[in-house]
Amino acid sequence: MTRTAVSTRKTALQVSAAPFAIRAEKASDVTAREALLDVCFGANRHARTCQRLRDGRLPAEGLAFSAVREGRLVGTVRLWHVSAGGKPALVLGPLAVDPSCRKLGVGAELMRHALDVAKRRGHGAVILLGDAPYYARFGFSAEKTAELALPGPFERNRLLGLELRDDALDGAWGIIVPTGQATKTTAKAPRRTRLGALAPRAA
Ligand SMILES: CC(C)(COP(=O)(O)OP(=O)(O)OC[C@H]1O[C@@H](n2cnc3c(N)ncnc32)[C@H](O)[C@@H]1OP(=O)(O)O)[C@@H](O)C(=O)NCCC(=O)NCCS
Repeated sequence: MTRTAVSTRKTALQVSAAPFAIRAEKASDVTAREALLDVCFGANRHARTCQRLRDGRLPAEGLAFSAVREGRLVGTVRLWHVSAGGKPALVLGPLAVDPSCRKLGVGAELMRHALDVAKRRGHGAVILLGDAPYYARFGFSAEKTAELALPGPFERNRLLGLELRDDALDGAWGIIVPTGQATKTTAKAPRRTRLGALAPRAA
């Protein structure tokens, strides 16, 4: 199987019977992305501990990617700014691939592309909560995350880290907290209407 070098291109193409492309996430991807995440993680996915690191935050700039196959979004990954016990880092997730497109290398290309861009953007470390047998192939291990914790229940053996810069997680100790830019709130303060102005005020 031939692949273009993802490390030097914005768009990664896999040349095979099932070609797909990895590209920056677009605003128009959001509906399909959320539907894919519902399929992959279930309706209660927002209750997961890792979600506490994403609530009300934007992903790190330039670090949200979609996999597209035949015009359809089939994969997603995003990375988020955190402080890992005082050390600046990124948390990766969720990573998800459409069940109909698995084992085609989509997940691996999303990971490699995301990690490559994160490194080129100068980030020092990536942390995630996931299965070591899958993520070890990208260099993740629990070696540097033993003294870190998430802000909620989690399985210790699934908290994994990867240093993009030597020693970036050395001495990392404490609870991982979100540090990304807040999403803009769209909720507006209720306008004071004529009727509202006349209505009795609650105490
Ligand atoms: C994990 C996931 C992203 C992998 O996507 P994918 O496109 O199928 O991955 P790839 O094609 O790059 O790799 C497939 C290989 O990984 C293996 N693999 C997949 N999930 C694995 C896991 N949890 N543990 C160990 N190996 C795993 C597959 O068995 C396959 O092995 P093979 O190459 O020997 O056949 C996809 O299965 C998925 O979306 N799962 C549900 C959501 C999820 O669990 N996300 C990760 C947690 S954040």
